[in-house]
Amino acid sequence: MNQPLKTVDFIHMEDGTKDEYVFLTEQEHVYNKSLPDRLLDALSQLEHSFGGYKVSRLEHSLQSATRAWEEGEDEEMVVAALLHDIGDPLAPHSHSEMAAAILRPYVSERVHWIIKHHGLFQAYYYAHHFDRDRNARDVHKDNPWYQDCVNFCANYDQNCFDPDFTSKPLEFFRPMVESVFAEPRNFDY
Ligand SMILES: [Fe+2]
Ligand SMILES: [Fe+2]
Repeated sequence: MNQPLKTVDFIHMEDGTKDEYVFLTEQEHVYNKSLPDRLLDALSQLEHSFGGYKVSRLEHSLQSATRAWEEGEDEEMVVAALLHDIGDPLAPHSHSEMAAAILRPYVSERVHWIIKHHGLFQAYYYAHHFDRDRNARDVHKDNPWYQDCVNFCANYDQNCFDPDFTSKPLEFFRPMVESVFAEPRNFDY
């Protein structure tokens, strides 16, 4: 009987065998099961994001998710609200795309689209102060989810900087994060 592999033998991917790639896929599968833990860790780090607002980026995210949950949004939308600014520390100029990329295999196309474009749509609230077009989002006017993204920013983003708001703690959302990230539904490379 073959000994279970501890590592593969190859040092160039082109030399790998099927057994080795099956073994690596299993390793990756086990690792992916702890994705919710890593996401919650990354969210907790938003406590140390840039200052200036009356609340931290973590508190902003918790307010966003809490408001979505209180409005009766489904689990995907609540988790998307929780994660919508998770890209801030590593993708300061493309944070919407980063959050959307994390969510994409696990959520509907609609929720993915809303998160991917929330940065542009959110600019409605400040772009005109910099002599930029606050309505730049209207390039997507004909998209079926245009109004959903307008609503996301209005109800779960631009209004989530309130130091007097009582938000749910991060751990409240753990079961929802675990549920949404349990299995990818749209898988590609
Ligand atoms: Fe954002
Ligand atoms: Fe935000």
